[in-house]
Amino acid sequence: MKKIIITGGTGYIGSHTVVEFINAGYEPIIIDNLSNSNINVLDGIEKITGKRPTFYKADVTDNFAMDKIFYENDDAIAVVHFAASKAVGESVQKPLMYYRNNLNGLINILEQMEKHGVNGLVFSSSCTVYGQPEILPVTENTPFAKAESPYGNTKKISEEIIQDTLKATPALKAIALRYFNPIGAHPSAYIGELPNGTPNNLMPYITQTAIGIRECLSVFGNDYNTPDGTPIRDYINVVDLAKAHVAAVKYLNSHKNDKQFDFFNIGTGKGSTVLEVINSFERSTGVKLNYKIAGRRAGDIEKVWADTTKANKVLGWKAEKTLDETTLSAWEWEKRLRVKSEELIVKSH
Ligand code: UFG
Repeated sequence: MKKIIITGGTGYIGSHTVVEFINAGYEPIIIDNLSNSNINVLDGIEKITGKRPTFYKADVTDNFAMDKIFYENDDAIAVVHFAASKAVGESVQKPLMYYRNNLNGLINILEQMEKHGVNGLVFSSSCTVYGQPEILPVTENTPFAKAESPYGNTKKISEEIIQDTLKATPALKAIALRYFNPIGAHPSAYIGELPNGTPNNLMPYITQTAIGIRECLSVFGNDYNTPDGTPIRDYINVVDLAKAHVAAVKYLNSHKNDKQFDFFNIGTGKGSTVLEVINSFERSTGVKLNYKIAGRRAGDIEKVWADTTKANKVLGWKAEKTLDETTLSAWEWEKRLRVKSEELIVKSH
C-alpha cells in the first residue's frame, strides 16, 4: 500500500484528509504534536474507515524527531503538510511564534524529504495570499497581495520557500492548495472541527450559539458592497477539501504532471454572504439562530470566491456538497461533540 506522511493529521482538515486517503487505498502515517487536536480523533478515523493509522506524536519543528520518522518511512510517496499554527488574530499578537512554527516546520519537512528521497509534497496554502482581489472570482493568476497578518505572510513565504527548494532539488515536486473557507464535518459526525476556546470562525460560532454555549452570534458588518451588505466567502465542505488532497497526490505522481511546482484554488466557485450561511444553517437544521448585526471586524475583506476551473480540469476534482448539507453536517458534529465533550475537547482558554 502506498504510504503518505500527513503532518497535522489529527487536526480539522488533516483528520478528514486521512479518512479520504484510507478510503482511496493509501496508508497514511500521521505526525502531530496534539497542540491543537486530540488523540481521540484516531478513534473517529477508525470508526469511519475500520483502520487505525500509524501515529507519531512529534513536532514538525523538531528536526531530530522528523529525521527519525522519515528514516522509518522513507518508502512514503508523498507528504501532505498541514501542521501549522492557523489563528489569524493570534498571529498578530505572537508573530515570532507563527514564523517559527510555520516556517521552521516546513523547512524541516523539505530537508527530510530531500534527505530520505520522499519526493512529493502537497502544501496547505490559503486564499489569504490574494488579499482583496480586484477581479472576482479569483484565479490562480491573481498576484499575491501584501499579507494582512503574520499568519497570511507565512503562507506566502512558504510557497516561495517551496519553489526555491524545488529549483535546487530537481527530484522534488510540489503542489500548493489554496483553500478558501473550510466548514462542516464528516457526515458520520465521528470527526469534525475542535475549536480551541472561543471560536473566531463563523461556522463553529454558529453551532456553539445554536447549542447554547454562546449567547448570540455577532454578524461583523452589514454595510459592505454585497447584495445583503454582509461579506462574501467561498465556503467549502471539509470532506470535499480533503478529497482535493487525494487528487493532488495522484496528479503529482502522474505522467500528466510536467510541472515541478503547481498551485490550485480549492473552493466551490460560489460565494455566500454571512446571512446566507445563517439562513442555510436554519433551513438545514430547523434550528433558529440568535444573532445580531455588529460592527465590522478589523482586517476582514469584503468579498472573495474562487475560480476553480484549474483544479476541475487539471486535478479532475470538484466540490460536490451543497451549503445546506455542509451546515447540517457542522450541526450534527456539534451535537455529538457536546455528548462526547469530556473525551474530545482539547482545552479552553
Ligand atoms: N463572521 C461573523 N461573525 C463571527 C465570525 C465570523 O460575522 O463571529 C464573518 C466574518 O466577518 C467573515 C465571515 O464570517 O465575513 C467568515 O469569517 P471567518 O473568520 O470564518 O473566516 P475568514 O474568511 O475571516 O478567515 C478564513 C480563515 C483564515 C484565512 C482566511 C483567508 O479562517 O485562516 O479565511 O481569507 F486566512
